[in-house]
This record gives sequence, C-alpha cells and structure tokens, in this order.
Amino acid sequence: MALSETSIRINAAQGTISRHIYGHFAEHLGRCIYEGFWVGEDSPIPNTRGIRNDVIAALRKLRIPLLRWPGGCFADEYHWEDGIGPRTGRKRTVNTHWGGVIENNHFGTHEFLQLCELLNCEPYIAGNVGSGTMQEMQDWIEYMTFAGDSSMADWRRANGRQTPWSIKYFGVGNENWGCGGNMRPEYYADEYRRYQTFVRNYGDNKIYKIACGASDFNYNWTEVLMREAGRYMDGLSVHYYTVPHTWAHKGSALEFNEDEWFITLQKALRMEEVVTKHSEIMDRYDPQKRIGLIVDEWGTWYDAEVGTNPGFLYQQNSLRDALVAGVTLNIFNAHCDRVHMANLAQTINVLQALILTDNDKFLLTPTYHVFDLYQVHQDATLLETNVENSAAYEHNGESLTQISVSASQNGAGAVHVTLCNIDSRASAQVTLTLDGLDAIRPVTGRILTAPDMTAHNTFSQPETVKPAALQTFSFTAQQVTVQLAPMSVAVLSIV
Ligand code: AHR
Repeated sequence: MALSETSIRINAAQGTISRHIYGHFAEHLGRCIYEGFWVGEDSPIPNTRGIRNDVIAALRKLRIPLLRWPGGCFADEYHWEDGIGPRTGRKRTVNTHWGGVIENNHFGTHEFLQLCELLNCEPYIAGNVGSGTMQEMQDWIEYMTFAGDSSMADWRRANGRQTPWSIKYFGVGNENWGCGGNMRPEYYADEYRRYQTFVRNYGDNKIYKIACGASDFNYNWTEVLMREAGRYMDGLSVHYYTVPHTWAHKGSALEFNEDEWFITLQKALRMEEVVTKHSEIMDRYDPQKRIGLIVDEWGTWYDAEVGTNPGFLYQQNSLRDALVAGVTLNIFNAHCDRVHMANLAQTINVLQALILTDNDKFLLTPTYHVFDLYQVHQDATLLETNVENSAAYEHNGESLTQISVSASQNGAGAVHVTLCNIDSRASAQVTLTLDGLDAIRPVTGRILTAPDMTAHNTFSQPETVKPAALQTFSFTAQQVTVQLAPMSVAVLSIV
C-alpha cells in the first residue's frame, strides 16, 4: 500500500475555538423530533418526560453545546402558540415543507427547553419572519424570558414553568431568500431591522441576534446584509451543504464509488472558500470581528433512502460522512476568529445525522464518533498549524490536499491534534513538530477508519465503524510521527 509523507509544524496560539462550533440542529422534519427526540411520556421506549433516554445519554456524552430549533424551513411557518398548553388541545397543522404530514404540536417550547436542560446545552431558537408577525415574535420572547407578571409570563406559569428561561441565541428567520419568504436581500435587510427591534431583552436576559444569511456562494446577500443591517446583528448565518452531484440527483448515501468519494470530499472542502469569502466581506464592515459567521446548517445531503418518504430526508451515514465531518470541523476551527457557531444538519434521522433510530432501535453513526473525537477542541485555544510539505490525493487528474489538520491546547495545557487522511488508497505518515513545548509528554490517540469506504452502522451491526486506540505513532522530544490508514479520522492527545 502507498505511503505518503506530510510534515506539519504546530506553534503559536491563535484564539479560542468556541464550543458552539460543535452545535447541532433539530427541525420538525421526518423523524428528527418525533421518534428521534420525542416519544411522549407514555411510550414503552424508556424516556424522561417524553424524551428518549438513549438519545439523552448519547448527546450528553458528546457535550453538545447548543441545539437549533424548530427549523429550518419549518421555522418560518411555525406559530409558537400552537405548541403550548395541554397537549391534547394543541392545534394540528400541516407540515407543508416536509412530507405534508400532520404536525400535532406535541413538542413545543416547553418540551424543547426541557430537552436543552436535560442535555445541558444552550437553546438556539429560529423565529418566524416568513409568515409570522413582529407581535408574535415579541410575545414569544416575553413568554420565555420575562420574570414579571405580564400576561405572557403568567401564561408560561399557568403552563407549568415558574421561572423564566435564559435564551441567548435567537435567529430572525431562516433562508428568507427561499423557503422563508423568497425575499431579495434589500427587502430582507429591512425586514430584519424591523423584526429584530422587537426581539427584546428582559431583565438580565441578553439576546444574541442572528440574521438570516446567504446560501453557499451568494456573496451579494452577505454584502447587502452587512451594509444595511450589520449594526443591528450579533451573528449572520450561512448555509452550505455537501451534495455530491446535483440537487435533482444528489447521489446515494451508500452506493458510491471512488469517483463519488472524491467529489464529495472535494465539495466538502469548499467550505474553506465559503467561510473565507463571506468572512472577507464581513471584515470590510466589521474589522473588529464583533459579528459572528454562524454556519447554522451544514453537512451531506444525498437522495433519501429508497422506500422512505422523500420529504423526510432520511439517509444512512458512512465512513465518507465521517471524513466530511472531520475536514469541515478542522476548517471551522481554523476560522474561529469569525466562525462563532456551526450546526450540523440534523441530529437524528435527518440528513447527516449523529443518531439513527427505528422505533426502539438506536445506533450511533460514524459522524457521531467524529464529534466525540473532536470534542477536545471545545473552548480550547487554537494552535497554528503550518503544513510544510504536504502529500496530495490525486484522482482522475484532480488533486486535493491529502491531510486535514487542526490543533488546540486546553486550559490544562494538553494539546490535541485532529487529523483526516482523505485518500481512499494511500496511508499517510505525518510528522508533527511542536514548537514551544519543552518536551513531548505522553501521547495517546484514537482513530476512526474501516477498510471499505461505504462502511456504516446498522441496527443489527451497530459497531462496524467506531473509534479504536491509535497504535501507529512514535514520539521524540519535539516530534510525533503518526501513520494514518487511508480514509481515517484521528485525534492525538499530548497531555
Ligand atoms: O435541513 C433541511 C433544510 O435545508 C432546512 O429546513 C432548510 O433551512 C434548508 O434548506
């Protein structure tokens, strides 16, 4: 088997990697909320106040910092008052975006915020601009966060919650250039200015306001929003999905060959361009980097699994998805001066999921394991990584950098390096030189890989792809040399 060589120098500290880069997203879409998170108190599936216990345990282990809800496209037709009060009396609405199914609104504001408390994560709520009113948005925030005795706060208490919740992250609309109202950037910028006025801070609750940002490479949207509304926002979002082929024929989650492996990684790596170019525009209007670039939807998007409701966006998750997650998170870390948050789409049973369920059955995907390996970067200090000589992954006359890397140092002084070898055939020998560390301390490592690029976990074989101890490394006073299998994601801990 081929063995390439890459050398990387790791040195100076470069800023903090916000834990919110490791955020997630849960929409009322397919089986994400219903069955994925919510089974109801009377379900035979073990649950805590209606939320699956297996899901709570798995997500707590990942230390997920933040969860975005209720959409997505669903957010701009969601009316929060439909989802409070006794469940039996809640309104039944049509989920027009996602399969036309009936939404019984059994999972609403109280259930979501209780879920965040169980997960010990921050809520990030997306408000309705497309079909909602400013009054509705203002009332929702008052309902959730006001401590006094207004009608809204009293209504919350009557529904069982005495103390207000603390809500920091609030999105003013979602994809308002598309499903959220088909607006032009100039029109949305004005709408944003108006709606955000009514996103009030009550008491000590200080809201971080996120404006709807661009899709992919639509830099004009970012330009207009920054110019017309930059001073009214704390964050500006962007969405970028990795679609191997076209939106009409995206490609299969499991039936793919090396061509599609290569194309998928190539497209995932374009996140670098997306983040860099939107950041360059933001830099012109906000050189202090006060406003965060919020990548609040990202991940792979394939054709829905054959035999499932196409509106439910259910897809399997393979080793290829693990590599997409690994290289993308490395990119976000590198841009942590501007990327303040990111949210993988979506947590359970939808798109690039962490968890798949089938009624009471449950499994962790390869993507879950990447987030597990990478959680060491949360709130750590980014270290500079200079790739001195780098091997290439070549296929069909095209070339990608074979190794993706990110390094950080935590408060206790431990250094963590995450590495991806995207080559489907060649192993990689990577030499890491750590400048500024007196002597390399004990090193341990974990690696996620498999011999087959389509390797994935199933309900009957849930541990086909899971991390193992990394044995193939050695270290001297200043250097660590590690051998990475083809198609692998690894973390080294230098403690
Ligand atoms: O994540 C699925 C959908 O993708 C979201 O609802 C929407 O915001 C995006 O187009």
